[in-house]
Amino acid sequence: MVNVIFCGFGEDMDKRVIAREGDVLLRVAMNNGVTIPSECKDGMCGSCAVRIEELHEEAPAEFESKVDPDAWDEKKYTTYMEDKELDTLVEMGAISKKEAETAQQYVQQTPVRLACQCIIKGPMLVKPFE
Ligand code: FES
Repeated sequence: MVNVIFCGFGEDMDKRVIAREGDVLLRVAMNNGVTIPSECKDGMCGSCAVRIEELHEEAPAEFESKVDPDAWDEKKYTTYMEDKELDTLVEMGAISKKEAETAQQYVQQTPVRLACQCIIKGPMLVKPFE
C-alpha cells in the first residue's frame, strides 16, 4: 500500500489516500471523491491529464501490504507507459516527442500522466494539469 496525495484539486478534494500498488490512478481518485475530468477513460482524449511527482515516503505501518511480492508479475507494476498514452500527451503538447522517446527508452514515467492509464507503482503527489 502506498500514499497518494492529491493537491490543488480544491479544498474538499485535497487529501492523502492509501492506494494499492497496481491500481489505476483515476479509479483511486474517483473512489476517494477527487474529481478528475475523464471523457474516454481509454487514453485517447487527454482530459484526465495530471502532474505527477514520485514521493519517497512509506505508508503507515498498519497499512503494510499483505501481498506476497514473489507472486507479483513484475512487468505489470513497472512505470512503462503505453504508446497510446505517450502519443496523446505529445499530441496535446503536455510533453515533447523527445520526452516521450526518453520515457520509452528508459522505462520512466513522464511528469504528466493520463490518470486513466497511470498504474500506481509507488507513493506519488498528484496535481491538476493546467
Ligand atoms: S479519460 Fe480520456 S485520456 Fe483519460
